[in-house]
Amino acid sequence: MQLMVEMNFFLCFNVFKAPVKSFVKKMSKIEINNVYKIFGSNPKSVLPMVKGGATKEEVLEKTGHTVGLDNVSIKIEEGETFVCMGLSGSGKSTLIRHLNRLIDPTDGDILIEGTNVMSLNTENLIDFRRHKMSMVFQRFGLFPHKTVIQNVGYGLEMQGKTEEERNKTAMEKIEAVGLSGFENQYPNQLSGGMQQRVGLARALATDTDIMLMDEAFSALDPLIRSDMQKQLLDLQSELKKTIVFITHDLDESLRLGDHIGILNAGKLVQVGTPVDIVMNPADDYVEAFVKDVNRAKVLKAKIIMKPVNEANEIDKNNLIKIGEDQFIEEFLPQVVCNNANCEVVDKKGNVKGYISNKELQKSLSKS
Ligand SMILES: Nc1ncnc2c1ncn2[C@@H]1O[C@H](COP(=O)(O)OP(=O)(O)O)[C@@H](O)[C@H]1O
Ligand SMILES: [Mg+2]
Repeated sequence: MQLMVEMNFFLCFNVFKAPVKSFVKKMSKIEINNVYKIFGSNPKSVLPMVKGGATKEEVLEKTGHTVGLDNVSIKIEEGETFVCMGLSGSGKSTLIRHLNRLIDPTDGDILIEGTNVMSLNTENLIDFRRHKMSMVFQRFGLFPHKTVIQNVGYGLEMQGKTEEERNKTAMEKIEAVGLSGFENQYPNQLSGGMQQRVGLARALATDTDIMLMDEAFSALDPLIRSDMQKQLLDLQSELKKTIVFITHDLDESLRLGDHIGILNAGKLVQVGTPVDIVMNPADDYVEAFVKDVNRAKVLKAKIIMKPVNEANEIDKNNLIKIGEDQFIEEFLPQVVCNNANCEVVDKKGNVKGYISNKELQKSLSKS
């Protein structure tokens, strides 16, 4: 069992130093191009049927094969958090596992910094997994027989770092996730939230540019989960890693994602910013996710304001000043108490636009 955990960890967590190809055309950090994944005894034979437009149900009924991904293309830019969301079975884990080649596509390409992961030989693949990507798992994936500091330093051990180097870096990351003092404890001495902080510290320790997080916070209690989201946002504002974060939870997607991709039965049905997703759901499936969302938590002043040159009709006698990045929920109480309109300013204090009751009403109403 322990060996299995180690192997699983080795496969998933350790990543590598791939040769970075330089291109004249700027590549995205991660490009997923027309990827199909079909599970079953003879996936290639089923591919034409899937490409011909057969649904996941039809394919299963007629061939016994399961469509995991159906013509998925996504570009993920350096330094962004890309959230992949969908119901259970929609293909999220299948997608993320293509990125470090735990799964090979039935068809299509996966390019990481311009390198096609399918072109890597065994040695390069190991190197790639050790140095290029780290992974945080839903069930933490810690070694029970290793202490916190040993768990956090494990990826560095695989990278060939000395114990002294490992411990130094591990302690920095343990501190960064707020676990100082627990470094010599074993995982079973920690709560779930603390164990996942260890998972996060371990992923940070290898200093990979890309972090893959598959339902990393889904097993945590709501309050702890919210703390972890905050921690990730804080860390990310400094580290600017490229994060692929998987969740089935809309609130989590909206809070963490710079962009969100929504999967339904293996198909990517929408990609957009949180505001795009909430304001313009592409179909009934996305609509069902967003229909009960609290828009005041998602929409910022700059999204709903009337730009200065279009705001002539807004009464400017009783204004309150708000920042362009403030969410509606942050300034709404002030607006109501003062019966005021808003003057929206940027960080330097320049006036960017105005918000009256009309804009607020429009953005908060559901239809
Ligand atoms: N190894 C596998 N063998 C057969 N079917 C699989 C395998 N892995 C995933 N699937 C199927 O592919 C689909 C997508 O699964 P998955 O990516 O795990 O979904 P999610 O992570 O969104 O819950 C599901 O229908 C699932 O049953
Ligand atoms: Mg999954």
